Amino acid sequence: MRLNQCHNFQDFRTLAQKRLPSPIFNYIDGAADDEVTYRHNTEAFDRCDLVPNVLTGVEDIDMSVTVMGQKLDMPIYCSPTALQRLFHHDGELAVAAAADKFGTMFGVSSLGTTSIAEVRKKFKSPQVYQFYFHKDRGLNKAMIESAKEAGVDVMMLTVDSITGGNRERDLRTGFSIPFRLTLGGLVQFAIKPMWGINYVTHESFKLPQLDEHVDMSGGAISIGKYFTEMLDPSMTWDDVAKMVKLWDGQFCLKGIMSVEDAKKAVDIGCTGIILSNHGGRQLDGSRSPFDQLAEIVDAVGDKIDVIMDSGIQRGTHVLKALSLGAKAVGGGRFYLFPLAAAGQPGVERALTLMRAEIERGMKLMGCSSVDQLSRSNLRFR
Ligand SMILES: Cc1cc2nc3c(=O)[nH]c(=O)nc-3n(C[C@H](O)[C@H](O)[C@H](O)COP(=O)(O)O)c2cc1C
Repeated sequence: MRLNQCHNFQDFRTLAQKRLPSPIFNYIDGAADDEVTYRHNTEAFDRCDLVPNVLTGVEDIDMSVTVMGQKLDMPIYCSPTALQRLFHHDGELAVAAAADKFGTMFGVSSLGTTSIAEVRKKFKSPQVYQFYFHKDRGLNKAMIESAKEAGVDVMMLTVDSITGGNRERDLRTGFSIPFRLTLGGLVQFAIKPMWGINYVTHESFKLPQLDEHVDMSGGAISIGKYFTEMLDPSMTWDDVAKMVKLWDGQFCLKGIMSVEDAKKAVDIGCTGIILSNHGGRQLDGSRSPFDQLAEIVDAVGDKIDVIMDSGIQRGTHVLKALSLGAKAVGGGRFYLFPLAAAGQPGVERALTLMRAEIERGMKLMGCSSVDQLSRSNLRFR
């Protein structure tokens, strides 16, 4: 299979699986425990049907949205994800370049392999910095200040990862940073030599957001240890309220799922919340963000931008979320498999297909702009 034969999420996933050593493919594809939540995230969209209107005059479609003060040319953005240079040697720069071409937002993870300043310098499209809260308050402050200096548009604090999820596929393959592969895992790298050649002949792997502050080289601290030893499980709403003040700009919480927490986010001055279960990678058995969306939009949708991610694979999924009241949606694997499959051209193809699906869907729904989508366009079974 080649890139031009990829027509949907599953095609990109198949091509990524062919190209990647299996420990890396399974790191992207895997989720927590029995992966029940991972499966439910996408299935949730099938529990409701779109109800189109016709003959409304839809020759020009405007799918742009404004979210947390950022104008996006399409209503889906590339959610921050860790370690992108392992998936393709161009990593975050490939994704940022593609997002920039399509006028959408892109997030750099605290565990990103390219520096936020480098991405900011190269691309104009809205940039999010995904932040993990560390025990070391000095480190938090320094990281927030570097993000300010770099000119990041939106601060995104992930709140669903107070400890690492139980990713059993990674335990089986030995996937970790630095690599501690099992024998089976090592064999999987040996049978995908092109990945290895690209990996060693391109810029070396690093975690620039953290390298300045902690020694990630030489095995001093692994990603697993990062979650268990460096992140602060005692973090509370008071800590976040202080961070919101310190940032003094667009600030959202990623991983809010309850109405109670959504209201607290409003109270402490956040400008956005992202309903997310981290693509099923953290708390298995947790509800899908799509199922929880209406309740949260009803409670706080007039006070804060409500966004959702997890499980989005199709343009119609995006349209269902927007019809329920989401201001925009994020996606992870929808661009990660294409990145792994073919680098920047892969991500561009995924965004092209997604944009075409959204446009076609809006036309078939009789909506020429996103604000015309409403709950009257949806029926739950
Ligand atoms: C391989 C991978 C790495 C991720 N790394 C991060 C991360 O560093 N920080 C974060 O907040 N979310 C991270 N996420 C979660 C995504 O930002 C997003 O919430 C999730 O992928 C949405 O689900 P989807 O993949 O079904 O679209 C990661 C997801 C994947 C698949």
